[in-house]
Amino acid sequence: MRIAIASASGALAKATAVYALERTSADDVILVTRNPGALAEFARRGVTVRYGDYDEPESLPAAFEGATRLLLVSLHELGHRVTQHRNAVEAAAAAGVRHIVYTSYIMVDPACPSTVVPDHLRTHELLDASGLDVTYLRNGLYAETPVTQILPPAIARGTLVDNTDHAKGAFVHRDDCAAVAAAVLTSSGHEGRTYDVTGPELLSFADIAALAARVSGRPVGYVSVDDEVLDAQLREAGVPDDVRGMIVSFGVALRAGFGEPLTDTVRELTGRPARPITDLMERHRPLLANA
Ligand SMILES: NC(=O)c1ccc[n+]([C@@H]2O[C@H](COP(=O)([O-])OP(=O)(O)OC[C@H]3O[C@@H](n4cnc5c(N)ncnc54)[C@H](OP(=O)(O)O)[C@@H]3O)[C@@H](O)[C@H]2O)c1
Repeated sequence: MRIAIASASGALAKATAVYALERTSADDVILVTRNPGALAEFARRGVTVRYGDYDEPESLPAAFEGATRLLLVSLHELGHRVTQHRNAVEAAAAAGVRHIVYTSYIMVDPACPSTVVPDHLRTHELLDASGLDVTYLRNGLYAETPVTQILPPAIARGTLVDNTDHAKGAFVHRDDCAAVAAAVLTSSGHEGRTYDVTGPELLSFADIAALAARVSGRPVGYVSVDDEVLDAQLREAGVPDDVRGMIVSFGVALRAGFGEPLTDTVRELTGRPARPITDLMERHRPLLANA
């Protein structure tokens, strides 16, 4: 089994490559990226590093050649990423890949109002129709988002404001998602399976603010506002339409319970428990304390 990890200079994919190399030989790993120079350290360790861009389908046959299993990391650009994912799936099938491991999202459900979900649903459809074996990793809400993006400005203001109204989610370290992806890529029996990859506990943003206050020594309160009020505040702050829609719809989806799956997948597949969000806060203590 030779595995290809695509979008390999991204945070999730690169961490997956590091974990995969603890489990398999460098000869069995191909890293595909738009930026091979960023992965020179892997090349020095004997890993094959190749250029590949989903927006240049002609670059993909050579990129995937010889691989039998592929990690397809979902991309960022809403709408357009379905075309990018399709290009990758078609090229992988043509190159002889037999099994795709797709990093999906915990909220993926046709009833979920989050604006990031439809692209995942369409990607699931094209993967299901591809004739390839597929494993879905429904990754939970990254703990990195509150810790490194939401909390620093909230601490600086003294209040975290959103529209989630004490709804809860099982925030997971992206690195734990990577460890799970590596375990799936380097072992057998995962074809046709779907795994919900979550953190170890359900937390609201009020809980997260309280934990951050304890870790950083900086007081930070929590206020929930209506969707319309949050939308207006974000508009006032100059947040672009698509990002605003993503943030507001995330709160609506969390309130509807789409962040609530809580599983032991990390421990079951990696042998160690999922790490709590406070570990990440400790790691970023200077960012939080000096916000
Ligand atoms: N669960 C959550 O809470 C959550 C939160 C945020 C994002 N996500 C999803 O998780 C994914 C991975 O997260 P991450 O933190 O690892 O993101 P990241 O560090 O931004 O990595 C994304 C990677 O996408 C690749 N990419 C961009 N355009 C490409 C193209 N045209 N063709 C091929 N690859 C392309 C790039 O890899 P190369 O430069 O190596 O080509 C980039 O490094 C995101 O893309 C997003 O879909 C999930």
